[in-house]
Amino acid sequence: MTSPITLIATATFGLEMLIKQEVKALGFADVQATDAQVAFGATWEDVPRANLWLRCADRLLLLMGTFTAVSFDELFERTKAIPWETVIAADGRFTVNAKTVKSTLQSARSCQAIVKKAVAERLKASYGVTWLSETGAEFTIQVSLLKDVAQLMLDTSGVGLHKRGYRAEAGEAPLKETLAAALVQLSFWRKDRLLIDPMCGSGTILIEAAMIGRNIAPGLRRRFAAEGWPTIAPAAWQRARQEAAAAQDHNGRLQLFGYDIDSDAIAIACGNAQKAGVGTDIQFAQKDVKELWLDQQYGILITNPPYGQRLSHFQEMNNIYIALNKMLRKKRGWSVYVLTADKKFPDYFKRAHPDRVRKLYNGRVEVNYYQYHGEKPEADKTVESVARAVV
Ligand SMILES: C[S@@+](CC[C@H](N)C(=O)[O-])C[C@H]1O[C@@H](n2cnc3c(N)ncnc32)[C@H](O)[C@@H]1O
Repeated sequence: MTSPITLIATATFGLEMLIKQEVKALGFADVQATDAQVAFGATWEDVPRANLWLRCADRLLLLMGTFTAVSFDELFERTKAIPWETVIAADGRFTVNAKTVKSTLQSARSCQAIVKKAVAERLKASYGVTWLSETGAEFTIQVSLLKDVAQLMLDTSGVGLHKRGYRAEAGEAPLKETLAAALVQLSFWRKDRLLIDPMCGSGTILIEAAMIGRNIAPGLRRRFAAEGWPTIAPAAWQRARQEAAAAQDHNGRLQLFGYDIDSDAIAIACGNAQKAGVGTDIQFAQKDVKELWLDQQYGILITNPPYGQRLSHFQEMNNIYIALNKMLRKKRGWSVYVLTADKKFPDYFKRAHPDRVRKLYNGRVEVNYYQYHGEKPEADKTVESVARAVV
């Protein structure tokens, strides 16, 4: 990559291609997706913008160096050869997090200590000091050793990008905001379409949909680690925030509906939506999914039903699946998306076989995202056939 810097958006397994699309949509051309990472060439000015706008990535890292290391000496010398002083200020506070997988250097703790020492030596020599105060801005170095290849990166985000700043209260088993945004992006939902989550819990899926619909930058309400870095002018952060604030689109009505059997969850969802600036865009109500009825012929349903191991849970889940089945069996115009760890879900939901099953991770739990495509509305079909005729 010939750009001044290389940024890496870290991805939950299974979301790499989606994040690659997000990065491209932000205007970056040189984008490469590998396992759990999307790398792209950028400028320093892009750091605020990418942090503010990435919806599905976990973090945004700055790549400082990649090299092979099979001994601690090698790790030390190669780390010391990286020009850390071009990013880390003389008073920078820096910590090191390391992980090592299938590598000769197996101890993450030792790698951490070696890298810390090498960076400190480099900075002391560069700044001509014998002692580093470490009282200034925060710099977290991520060291990742995979099959003896070390990647050294600086974390520009700080706390993970899922922390948008709207979730004061979590509710029961909430989804990470980044995963919820991905579920919406992977669906057929567009801002002019009806969307319901019949088991919405703290409302994460609907809040993320509303933020997408209103073009609200997910990071607009939070701060980032790189805000104190000398390489990025405060004006760049200000400009990115101003542009993001101006990009919001509050025209038109969104059709977003959330239900949950638990009235406390509904209260939490309302509060979170309010904080996210989409309080008037979503209608929440307490309702048991077994009592829910859909009037409309076309719509999108995205949900993340409860999942548990106890017998009482199994029985309750069966009842929920039967209710979903009954509700949607004759609604061929509805696209249905269900995220669950329960591999038996498709046996119960009999409308059709899933059109797609994606393996994802909800935290550390392996889950499947079952996708059932609905039939298109007549108007869309007409547009499509006209488009085909023109082609
Ligand atoms: C895994 S949580 C959903 C979490 C949600 N996606 C979030 O991010 O907060 C499942 C939710 O289903 C709700 N629930 C359980 N049984 C239900 C039923 N019969 N009808 C409606 N909601 C139900 C629970 O109260 C819980 O909030």
